[in-house]
Amino acid sequence: MKASAPGKVILFGEHAVVYNRPALAVPVNQVQVEVEVSESSQPGIRIQAPIIGLTSDLASLPSDHPIGSVILKTIQHVGVSPLPNLSIQIQSTIPVAAGLGSGAAVSVALVRALSSFLDHPLPNEDINNLVFEIEKLHHGTPSGIDNTVITYNMPVYYIKGQPIETFKCGKPFTLVVGDTGIPAPTKESVGDVRRLWLRETIRFEEIFNEIAQISLIARRSIESGKPDLLGEMMNHNHELLQQLTVSSPELDNLVDASKQAGALGAKLSGGGRGGNMIALVKQASAESVAEALISAGAKRTIITEVK
Ligand code: MEV
Repeated sequence: MKASAPGKVILFGEHAVVYNRPALAVPVNQVQVEVEVSESSQPGIRIQAPIIGLTSDLASLPSDHPIGSVILKTIQHVGVSPLPNLSIQIQSTIPVAAGLGSGAAVSVALVRALSSFLDHPLPNEDINNLVFEIEKLHHGTPSGIDNTVITYNMPVYYIKGQPIETFKCGKPFTLVVGDTGIPAPTKESVGDVRRLWLRETIRFEEIFNEIAQISLIARRSIESGKPDLLGEMMNHNHELLQQLTVSSPELDNLVDASKQAGALGAKLSGGGRGGNMIALVKQASAESVAEALISAGAKRTIITEVK
């Protein structure tokens, strides 16, 4: 039994989304996790995940291992016993800790493949809830946006705790994603923002409010087929993320390089302090912006059309 899950990028609203403000995110299908679950002749549950250098039996993993906990929670949820002997293969083209949701994508594909193999295929709502539980175990205070966009594989306008809203693009637009190659310490940056928010609540609430306005207006621009307006909004959102202290010299450098190469706007995407940035481009200049990003030090780029 095979199942897959895409990567994601946050277009607007990261960090503010943890404080109940809206954020926009889209799936990135150019990168994928694929999980295959099959019956094994060896006793127990054998897991192979070359992307993180893991080959292990479930029983030998520490009890709080992210992959181990996904498997245990899924088994518990579907209530199958006794368990067959299993082999679980996890392949991924989503770079790890790059802000593209690799952890959530592994969890989603794993829950999907394992529950289907055990004859209890779970609906997206259950998969999303289960994966959110796992995200909470490993990421402190996540908003739930990553698991939602990846589970449903569609654009989302996300507000924590509210019913999922998707949005439609009036006109497709092109993004270049540039990876600093530096792991994004999302748990740490989310924790630092929380400490600063506790110290300077009024200032941080104001920044979150400004970001919320941007997400709201951005959604309208996307839906009404005016994606060119997003460039300025990205620049502004990036400045506000700088004020939240989650940018870095490497991210700022890639943001500037993309704009010098003709991008209409750019910002960091995800937890920040590493990981990825995104640049809005005219389709015809996507390749040259991607090349400029590589020249400026990006470790890889992805060109993706949002439609
Ligand atoms: C991480 O992809 C996005 C953050 O807003 C954290 C979260 O929403 O859980 C930084």
